[in-house]
Amino acid sequence: MDHSMAGPRRILTVFGTRPEAIKLFPLVHALEADDRFEARVCVSAQHRGMLDQVLEITAITPHHDLDVMQPDQSLDALTARLVTGIGGVIDRERPDWVVVQGDTATAMTGALAAYYRKIPVAHVEAGLRSGNIHHPWPEEVNRKIIGSIAALHCAPTKTARAALLAENVDPAAVHVTGNTVIDALHWITAKLERQPDLASGLAELEQRFAGKRIIAVTSHRRENFGEGMQAIACAIRRLVARPEVAVIFPVHLNPHVRAVMESELAGIDNVALIEPLDYPHFARLLAIADLVLTDSGGVQEEAPALGKPVLVMRETTERPEGVEAGTAKLVGTDADRIVAEAGRLLDDREAYQGMARAHNPFGDGRSAQRICDLLWTRG
Ligand code: UD1
Ligand code: UDP
Repeated sequence: MDHSMAGPRRILTVFGTRPEAIKLFPLVHALEADDRFEARVCVSAQHRGMLDQVLEITAITPHHDLDVMQPDQSLDALTARLVTGIGGVIDRERPDWVVVQGDTATAMTGALAAYYRKIPVAHVEAGLRSGNIHHPWPEEVNRKIIGSIAALHCAPTKTARAALLAENVDPAAVHVTGNTVIDALHWITAKLERQPDLASGLAELEQRFAGKRIIAVTSHRRENFGEGMQAIACAIRRLVARPEVAVIFPVHLNPHVRAVMESELAGIDNVALIEPLDYPHFARLLAIADLVLTDSGGVQEEAPALGKPVLVMRETTERPEGVEAGTAKLVGTDADRIVAEAGRLLDDREAYQGMARAHNPFGDGRSAQRICDLLWTRG
């Protein structure tokens, strides 16, 4: 196709949760700055508050906001609202491409609604696989569905590309672009250098915990609800029994997470249970943390880039690169194991130094530009 004859290509980027917004804002910014494209944005607002935190700091004003979030939403009702809502937006926009990211309900339904209209889908962060449909749940199936629909697969790493090829995806449609999370991290780091005040809200906690070893904790995985969350809370209680340790835990807004963490950890000295942090404050928290305990996907990618040892509270990971690089370790959700592994890093300087080295297996910060170029050349 002679691209010089075509008008700007209309790209509809669809997202709805915090991690999708963080990983897609670099692409939206790049599309907006590029004359080859008309950048259109649809947010589902599957996450209302945590999405708006990202939209605000990144100055993205969506063209469509479906506002689908309901308190304690079930997967089926959420999926139904999303597929019809996003479908209606695609009908109005008639884009050349629909772009989705990762493995959330918004990403899966965005891909499905585009497929129902025969509009090509570009999948950002394609090819992550744990090999277990129950871990992470329901994300492993969501991303496999997207993988079977997408016309362009932007794999963050070679491992992700290989996973797609093993599923017989057309090799010409799979490109290793790096993960846009690293673009996002570079952007926020540069912004904080210029405007450190954007993260000044942690100053009080930094003062309260001065001289302590800070452990940053996040947790939200559905498969950890119940027993897993209880075990994580129990591990935190045991870790902060050590007077030199403090935990800063921005608690996800999911009521299943909050109920457990508030009942198990509220009021304990050296545990700060706080509201979800906006991205500048979370970047600051990672910077001041000695160690990260998480079941998050994105945090597993950010911590290695910052040289922060990360203990992954999951049974499996679809992001083996952090483990291979030596900055991440899978510890599951057994309290004894979490306490033992964290204790080892706190007590054994050599073990700590062995993990606390910055690695960038997930990207070089130029993924968004590569994806833009692919949306042009592969269109
Ligand atoms: C979702 C994604 C998960 C992703 C995670 C990132 C699905 C099925 N799950 O899980 O893949 O890793 O986001 O955080 O797509 N809530 C609020 N305000 C918010 C956000 C959530 O009140 O800003 C509460 C609501 O009660 C909501 C509940 O959390 O119903 C669950 O939100 P939901 O998006 O369904 O699931 P997450 O566990 O957040
Ligand atoms: N994050 C944030 N504030 C917080 C906790 C996390 O901005 O209080 C960011 C973090 O930097 C990462 C993303 O949210 O980029 C991860 O989101 P989450 O853990 O909710 O989802 P997952 O990555 O597991 O899908």
